Amino acid sequence: MTDRTSNIVASLDIVEEKRLLDLSQEIGDSVFAIKINWPTILACGKQIISKLGKYSRIICDLKIADVPNTVNLIMKQIETEKPYAVITHLFTGEDSLKTLMDNEGGIRVIGVASMSNSGAKKYLNPNYASLIKDANSAGCYGIVGPGNDYKLLSEMSKIKGNMKIFCPGIGAQGGNYRGAMNSGGDYMIIGRSIYENPSPLKYILNLEKS
Ligand code: XMP
Repeated sequence: MTDRTSNIVASLDIVEEKRLLDLSQEIGDSVFAIKINWPTILACGKQIISKLGKYSRIICDLKIADVPNTVNLIMKQIETEKPYAVITHLFTGEDSLKTLMDNEGGIRVIGVASMSNSGAKKYLNPNYASLIKDANSAGCYGIVGPGNDYKLLSEMSKIKGNMKIFCPGIGAQGGNYRGAMNSGGDYMIIGRSIYENPSPLKYILNLEKS
């Protein structure tokens, strides 16, 4: 795994295993982590997590939202594949979050404190401050904040404590790499702009120089 400093998380929402492994091999050393989501896990099986782990840290974007017993069953499945972190919803409350934090694989927990889609403005995003408070008290490693809403992102960054902010919404959803960093984002989650790019590695390296 690379020691190179990068704050890019490549969100490889790819369902063809060979294409995913080839691209991960190409860019794995140039990013902080690779994030995978449900489409990939459903298409390739959970073992894809440990297969990709050869190339980078792996963040599983499971957006877990369930009662503690089910949360525990999910984590038992995931622990065997040794991901670096999982993404969970926070709105299910302290008991579900505590179960996640107690996982036996030392898997870091990143909580969704807001979302980058416009529909999130109705229920989720107005509650970002309480969600961040819960994430902080539980000892989460990070939170998710919108890389395409700089005002909300900078408000979140003021109350994040020691947690890292992971920002989706860059590129395809309108946010800008530098804009999100200047608004307090720590790690930039970038999907389609990387995996649909004809030269993904070049795109990543140029982005950091931008
Ligand atoms: P794109 O292609 O839009 O991919 O760059 C973004 C990736 O991140 C996920 N995503 C989010 N995850 N909160 C999250 O926890 C969000 O607000 C959010 N917006 C996008 C998306 O599912 C994809 O994997």
